[in-house]
Amino acid sequence: MSRTVYLNGDYLPEAEAKVSIFDRGFLMADGVYEVTSVLGGKLIDFAGHAARLERSLSELDMRSPIGTGALLEVHRELVRLNDIDEGMIYLQITRGAPDDRDFVYPPEDTPPTIVLFTQNKPGLADSPAAKRGMKVISIPDERWGRRDIKTVQLLYPSMGKMMAKAAGKDDAWMVEDGAVTEGTSNNAYIVKDNTIITRNLGNEILHGITRAAVLRFAREAQMQVEERGFTIKEAQAADEAFITSASTFVMPVVEIDDATLGDGTPGPVARRLREIYLDESRKAAV
Ligand code: PDD
Repeated sequence: MSRTVYLNGDYLPEAEAKVSIFDRGFLMADGVYEVTSVLGGKLIDFAGHAARLERSLSELDMRSPIGTGALLEVHRELVRLNDIDEGMIYLQITRGAPDDRDFVYPPEDTPPTIVLFTQNKPGLADSPAAKRGMKVISIPDERWGRRDIKTVQLLYPSMGKMMAKAAGKDDAWMVEDGAVTEGTSNNAYIVKDNTIITRNLGNEILHGITRAAVLRFAREAQMQVEERGFTIKEAQAADEAFITSASTFVMPVVEIDDATLGDGTPGPVARRLREIYLDESRKAAV
C-alpha cells in the first residue's frame, strides 16, 4: 500500500514526492532529522523531539520551515492518513536546494526542504527482541565531533550495524578513548549493584529523548543513576545492560563482545524500566 508522505507543505503519494538533485541533504548530508514513535495512534514525547529539532537547526544556522504547532498537526495528519497504530514518523529538514553544488551555504532565502513519512510497525511495543535481549559488539567510534546534533550523516552508524550483522550480532556499541559513547542508533547503559550507569551528556553523544525520560522515571522510582563513561570491560562485568531510543524504547542487552551478562536473559532493571517507560509514555502521548 502506498504511503501518503509530506513534502514542503503538501501531502502526496510517496511515488510523487521528489526532491532536487541539488538538495544539500543529498549532496552534503546537510540536514537534520528526528524519529518520533507512535503508540496507540498517538505521538510519544513529541515536545522533546520538537525541542531537539530546534536545537539541531540552530546549531547549524539552519532555519525551520515550520512552527512547532504546525509540525504537530503534520505528524497527526500523517498518522491519520496512513492509519498508523504503532510505528514511527521520520522527519528530515535540509538546507534546501540551491541551483548548483557549492560548499558555501546557499543564500539565506533558499527554502529549507522538509520531508516527513510514516513507518508502520505493528507490534513495536510487544517486540520479541525485548524478551530475548540483544547481542552487541564494540567498534571504535569514528564519527564526527558534534554527535549532539542529530544530522543525517549516518554512514558510520550504518557501517557499524553491518559489522554487527557480519559478526552474527544485533548492534554495535562505539568506543572512544577507552569509554563507550553510545550505540549506533541508541544510548547505552549498564547496571551494576542496582545503579544505572550511562555516558554523561556532551558533544560526544546524541542527547536521547528516550534517555531523558528513562532517567527521569528511574530517579522517580528511587533508582540510583550515574552519568559517566564506562569501559567495555566494566560493561562485560555488569549485572545487566540495555539501550534506549525512540524506536526500541528500553531494550535489554544480554551479550557484549561474546561475554554473556548474568544468565543471558533480560535483567530486572531493564524489564522494569521498559514497562514504566511504555506505561508513562502512553499516558502522556499526544
Ligand atoms: N536514533 N544515539 C544515536 C546515535 C541515535 O541515532 C539515537 C536515535 C539515539 C536515541 O535518541 P532518542 O531516544 O531521542 O531516539 C541515541 C533514531 C531512533 C534513528 O536514527 O532511527
